[in-house]
Amino acid sequence: MEKKTNSAEKILLNYYQKERKRQKSTLNLIASENYPSKKVLFYSGSLLMNKYAEGYPNARYYQGCQNIDKIEELTIDLAKKLFGVEYANVQPHSGSQANQAVYLALLKSGDKILSLNLLAGGHLTHGAKVNFSGTFYQIHYYNLNPLTQKLDYEEISKIAQEVKPKLIVTGYSAYSLKIDFAKFRQIADRVGAYLLADIAHTAGLVAASLFPNPVNYADVITFTTHKTLRGPRGAVILAKKELGPKIDKAVFPGNQGGPNPAIIAAKAQCFLEALQPEFKEYQKQVLKNAKAMADYFQNKRVKVISGSTETHLLLIDTKNSYNLTGKEAAERLEKIDIICNKNMLPYDKEKPWITSGIRLGSPALTTRSLGKKEFQLIAEVIDSTLRNHYDTNKKEAKDKIRYLIKKFF
Ligand SMILES: Cc1ncc(COP(=O)(O)O)c(C=O)c1O
Repeated sequence: MEKKTNSAEKILLNYYQKERKRQKSTLNLIASENYPSKKVLFYSGSLLMNKYAEGYPNARYYQGCQNIDKIEELTIDLAKKLFGVEYANVQPHSGSQANQAVYLALLKSGDKILSLNLLAGGHLTHGAKVNFSGTFYQIHYYNLNPLTQKLDYEEISKIAQEVKPKLIVTGYSAYSLKIDFAKFRQIADRVGAYLLADIAHTAGLVAASLFPNPVNYADVITFTTHKTLRGPRGAVILAKKELGPKIDKAVFPGNQGGPNPAIIAAKAQCFLEALQPEFKEYQKQVLKNAKAMADYFQNKRVKVISGSTETHLLLIDTKNSYNLTGKEAAERLEKIDIICNKNMLPYDKEKPWITSGIRLGSPALTTRSLGKKEFQLIAEVIDSTLRNHYDTNKKEAKDKIRYLIKKFF
């Protein structure tokens, strides 16, 4: 028995080390991933995780929470300061659970939600049939304009007036342009709907004041802490003060049991880092790097969805540009150590595990200090790899990637 445990332990350690090596020897363009600081990692895996703390500061179901109370209070204060809000709940384990708690707080089963069609960049929790959101609520979609592939506020307003939803969702997983939250507020007010801004992806840009802040417009805001914000795996809910008690109840006991105090502390560390001037410089570079890739592709007449990027990510139509599905393109890039994800495009006819495009993001490699020149080089390598130059240029492409990895990792 002991022997077996030992060999399983070895296997576990071996795969941990292999994954560590993989992360240090590939170029990560996955828009939702990042490399948090050593301090964030320290708190994430710390002994704080040992404590059960069901409830909220000074109102727990367990004894011995005096230190955890102070940590959670500090984290809430930092979240409020960073985003300029009156209320924050820092307990959700993930973005999906944060959204689930918001729906539980504001809606009854069967109520109508209006959100962006998932093919056009929405998230599973915004109404996918296979997700709780599509099971318990009546989902209606708005879409991107078929010609411009941009949000069409007049059209959204029309649909809202027909549907009369109880909740409108804005904020996306794969939309590369700015969002006019004031217009969404007007649309929501016209039909008496709540407005949820799910800024899971753009939270870091919002915190650095480089992307519109929904605080004065949305009733509730959810975001993950592990994407552009560069913190631990988890999420936060922000809201107007009066919705606080409902949301607290929906998170606990409505949606989850004990919070993870280790992750809450790591969120505090992440917010502290995001309040520093260097963080704004980092986010500026994230934007410049994504734009450098988008500009390169456009100059090569590659189809960039919505025309460009004003965020940390861009979508490329690989089907129309290279005659490759998203799956084929992503797999071909992995062979030269560029890691990205296949992604559905607006009005995509392919299945989700095939897709017609890929999504490219700049946050992780910007953390590794790559700048505009390096992102242009990466775009060049991607472009020549996805054209039929793949076999002839494979060695040259690999050499360029190796040069970047050696220089920056
Ligand atoms: C817009 C949006 N909302 C919610 C989520 C869910 O976050 P999680 O994966 O932490 O559940 C994501 C994740 O990619 C997202 O992009």
